[in-house]
Amino acid sequence: MGKILSEPVLLKRLAGTIALQFTVYIVYGNSLVFLTFHLLNQYGLIELFQLDMVKLRRFLVLVQEDYHNQNPYHNAVHAADVTQAMHCYLREPKLAQSLTSFDILLGLLAAATHDLDHPGVNQPFLIKTNHYLAALYRNTSVLENHHWRSAVGLLRETELFSHLPVEDSLSIERQLGSLILATDISRQNEYLSRFRTHLDENDLCLGHASHRHFVLQMALKCADICNPCRPWELSKQWSEKVTEEFFHQGDIEKKHKLEISPLCDSEANTIASVQIGFMTYVVEPLFAEWARFSDTRLSQTMLGHLGLNKASWSALEPEASGSSEEGESEPGRATEEPSSRALSQGSQES
Ligand SMILES: *[C@@H]1O[C@H](CO)[C@@H](O)[C@H](O)[C@H]1NC(C)=O
Ligand SMILES: [Zn+2]
Repeated sequence: MGKILSEPVLLKRLAGTIALQFTVYIVYGNSLVFLTFHLLNQYGLIELFQLDMVKLRRFLVLVQEDYHNQNPYHNAVHAADVTQAMHCYLREPKLAQSLTSFDILLGLLAAATHDLDHPGVNQPFLIKTNHYLAALYRNTSVLENHHWRSAVGLLRETELFSHLPVEDSLSIERQLGSLILATDISRQNEYLSRFRTHLDENDLCLGHASHRHFVLQMALKCADICNPCRPWELSKQWSEKVTEEFFHQGDIEKKHKLEISPLCDSEANTIASVQIGFMTYVVEPLFAEWARFSDTRLSQTMLGHLGLNKASWSALEPEASGSSEEGESEPGRATEEPSSRALSQGSQES
């Protein structure tokens, strides 16, 4: 659980199950379509909500195509990864016992579409370059609003839910928005302090739809930023990808003589420094609360990886590691750390 599957493995596993529906699609680059279809099917949601296979396939292919493959990080593979993580969290006992099929449908759809049509640059960049999306969404959760409205556009275009009562499909659209908007990292403290208060007061009642919805928001937030909680070899690759995207934005800003956004200047930051900050101030606080809510082996494994990965990045970062030895740092070292490797391999049950 919580383990990312490489695409060939994923395809091999899924191909047997759904090859009939996707005969011509057994090629690389379809992990989002395969995975989402497979999960919807496995949860029995296609049957329960009487989803039309042709419409569903078209919807998923369009979703996948609307991600930008040229983005190093915010592409369809990230969306598939988040959908897979979301599935793992939905299976956690507290959620599995209380979520309705409708909740699960929303959770999976939100995960699959949560970064739809991501331009590969962040909100401050869109605002300072007077991008039409910044004007359209009034500088507020610009990207997340766009991901949501793009998802709604595809739902309507493919008429995936057109057989449901209008109020149901509107409710799906609205709740999808509320889930996707929760992934706005700049609003993390709002969500986190609400979560903390609920846990302190021990008053989350998952019989209430509004509380289940809040837990789904938190689950999606965790799924979105769980890369640092994966075993080092996987985590490291995601870190490289996301930093590559940041630095690419910084290069554009440099080229156009714009102010370089925080974390985006490749001369002032390293992957390690970006990651250590992200883990310390964003990921750790979120997953610490998540583990309080869902105190399971998966949560503990994720916190364990997080600690080890942070130590590995610190070892690669001369300033942060506190070692003042002369000469180059050895980029390969943290990878070789026997304790880290043993632990990440030891917990790769899935
Ligand atoms: C968005 O921010 C820009 C830059 O700060 C500003 O010029 C613009 O008026 C803002 N737009 C809205 C709708 O607030
Ligand atoms: Zn994301």
